[in-house]
Amino acid sequence: MPRKLFVAGNWKMNTSKAEAVALARALVEQIGSQEAVDTAVCPPFIYLTAVAEVISDSRIDLGAQNMFYEDNGAYTGEISGAMLTDAGCRYVILGHSERRHVIGETDEIINRKIVKALGDGLEVIFCVGELLAEREAHQTLDVVRRQVQVGLESVSRSDMERITVAYEPVWAIGTGVTATPDQAQEVHAMIRDLLGQTYDAELAESIRIQYGGSVKPSNAAELLHQADIDGALVGGASLKAADFAAIVQAGIS
Ligand code: PGA
Repeated sequence: MPRKLFVAGNWKMNTSKAEAVALARALVEQIGSQEAVDTAVCPPFIYLTAVAEVISDSRIDLGAQNMFYEDNGAYTGEISGAMLTDAGCRYVILGHSERRHVIGETDEIINRKIVKALGDGLEVIFCVGELLAEREAHQTLDVVRRQVQVGLESVSRSDMERITVAYEPVWAIGTGVTATPDQAQEVHAMIRDLLGQTYDAELAESIRIQYGGSVKPSNAAELLHQADIDGALVGGASLKAADFAAIVQAGIS
């Protein structure tokens, strides 16, 4: 069975409440009823419930951008997986490069979060990707392999069905520089191969691997038509309803 494309918008630390609601409304109007591509939006925590209400009757799903690996307790400023499901989230993004490189999350921390999110019933968008220096040193495949292996440590095969991997080369995020379709395809194929070895061929064939890093309407079609690219994790362009809708459309046509 061909993999259904999955396009998610990572709004990062952007929008006011009014802007979040307006963006969600515009998306419901433009792509809220299409079924050809799975879609999700990931607003800041504090606007999750407001956006959940706007998209509730549409086919757009809700995701969060992060969570903590404990249930509750003295973890000032953190948010649990149960809180996310309570707010209406289906997905959570974990391992994003800004969490890794700005906040300092390690592969081990990301693994704890992934295991907890799956235990809490969430689906995970698990991000991996190399730094520019690592690409230039020809370490891309090794770095991404390690991130995948450690990040998914002890995740069962059945739980893997609730994982989407997002390959996001750090040098392409928010820079306007996109990996070429060939560069992206090479890493996506390696990830799929690795999942095949770790789990089995059927799982590897069914899992979705998104590309992220300066995806925009003008480059979406070319990327989405690569054999092992099954969608996109979109940052900057997800803040404009028309651009996000055009990226989704590129996956349909
Ligand atoms: P970008 O961000 O589309 O702005 O490059 C992608 C991401 O960080 O998920």
